[in-house]
Amino acid sequence: MTISVLDEGTTIPDEFAVLGLPRPLVTGLARQGITAPFPIQRAAIPDILAGLDVLGRGRTGSGKTLAFGLPTLARIAGEKSAPKRPRALVLVPTRELAMQVAATIEPLGRGLSLRTRTVVGGMPMGRQIEDLRRGVDVVVATPGRLTDLIEQGACALDDVEITVLDEADHMCDLGFLPVVSALLARTPADGQRLLFSATLDGDVDKLVQRFLTDPVVHSLDPATSPVDTMEHHLIQVQRDDKVDVTAEIANRAGRTILFVRTQHGVDRVVKQLARAGVSAGGLHGGKRQNQRTRILDGFRQGKIGVLVCTDVAARGIHVDDVSLVLHVDPPADHKSYLHRGGRTARAGERGVVLTLVLPSERRSTESLTRKAGVAASRHRVEPGDPVLAEIAGARRPSGEAVPVWEPEARPQPRAGRDDRPRDDNHRGRRRFGDRPRAGDRPGEGDGRHRWQEQGERPPRAGWAGDGRGESRGGRGAGPRRGRAGGQAGYGAGEGGRGRRFTGR
Ligand SMILES: Nc1ncnc2c1ncn2[C@@H]1O[C@H](COP(=O)(O)OP(=O)(O)OP(=O)(O)O)[C@@H](O)[C@H]1O
Ligand SMILES: [Mg+2]
Repeated sequence: MTISVLDEGTTIPDEFAVLGLPRPLVTGLARQGITAPFPIQRAAIPDILAGLDVLGRGRTGSGKTLAFGLPTLARIAGEKSAPKRPRALVLVPTRELAMQVAATIEPLGRGLSLRTRTVVGGMPMGRQIEDLRRGVDVVVATPGRLTDLIEQGACALDDVEITVLDEADHMCDLGFLPVVSALLARTPADGQRLLFSATLDGDVDKLVQRFLTDPVVHSLDPATSPVDTMEHHLIQVQRDDKVDVTAEIANRAGRTILFVRTQHGVDRVVKQLARAGVSAGGLHGGKRQNQRTRILDGFRQGKIGVLVCTDVAARGIHVDDVSLVLHVDPPADHKSYLHRGGRTARAGERGVVLTLVLPSERRSTESLTRKAGVAASRHRVEPGDPVLAEIAGARRPSGEAVPVWEPEARPQPRAGRDDRPRDDNHRGRRRFGDRPRAGDRPGEGDGRHRWQEQGERPPRAGWAGDGRGESRGGRGAGPRRGRAGGQAGYGAGEGGRGRRFTGR
């Protein structure tokens, strides 16, 4: 057994090594101060290393990225991928999440001489093609760009040994399902498949039935469940007070994320906050990718303390020390509530989630929080209400306008055939995965399902406050590489561990 020395005289078993991970990964983790696996990691890593298909469900911020990332690297270590033929594929719904997952996996993979690259829309295609030509072991991709590169002959999935779907339930939404299924069908039928999400529910049935073989479920919580260290409050406001109350909350001291329903709504709230004296960055899919990246980086680096965004940032995005999430507009459903809220209270930290509720939204919001399994306290407030200071550290803003914080967009590199960000011209073929290209501006989506796949919600008449009028070839039956027999070797003590997936 490998032993790590913590302090003089104190030694503990190196738990990551005990799980079966190779030494370079364990030392890479230790370098980042990560020495003990989180429960989902302890539960899932041995089975993934044994070659099993795994469905992994753990709350937001519970460490799912390393739970699938570490054993994926370990499984493909020791060989080199042929040009254009990656051996591991991680599919995610948004570009920002792809970059984040790659940033987590890449340095660890380097310790095993494995190359990790992103393949995402809105970024120069030429560089991605060149990287693939030189040989990439792990591709972290959004489905649309990957499909483009495959169609161009720049990438083939025939050597893929492990495919991961992060935010898997979301990747099974109506818009994503065809393209994700088509990509899975291009991977070898006997490849290993891993599906992870905080809300891994019945929606994943179709993919599970078609592409997974006797998957093991590691479900650390019920299908949807909130995080223990999160506090929830429903804040009832009158329509006319919504802007002022939002500004007071945004003017708190800690790092704060505000979720707004539409792209226009994000721009509007950013301006309203600036007028009130609060500097905030606005993130949505209508912006150029280099702006999106710089805004999120600005928030990560503390250049701005407030991020106003659509649901494009609701899934998977991790920023340290976000202490409060405010739903300026109520989320679409209980799953969205959990994912948006899950940007705070991560990895055991504490966090507060507030939802602004207009009188007309009371019933729907209460039903939504009930479904999310959340016990929220209710408050009826007006601007300046001391309860806002008490629960959120809200402060009256200065009222002296500040300029809108917007990093300058770098000039776009010359566009190749498919490089133009479709968010901006809306003329290209429909793409999935690089959300959102359309959907929150009237006439740009194509109906109800369009926005569901784009991840940003559609315009709804009479919405809150000032926003009105804005309007594989068959399932693998063959023998599985390295598959362990039976259910032996599960990690210790997690609820729901080891159940076979029964379809719901
Ligand atoms: N074993 C560990 N020890 C300490 N920190 C960890 C450990 N595993 C993961 N973390 C940290 O926890 C944070 C959240 O991890 P991660 O983003 O993987 O969560 P997640 O479960 O994927 O959440 P979401 O459902 O929101 O996507 C990250 O900052 C990560 O570095
Ligand atoms: Mg995640």
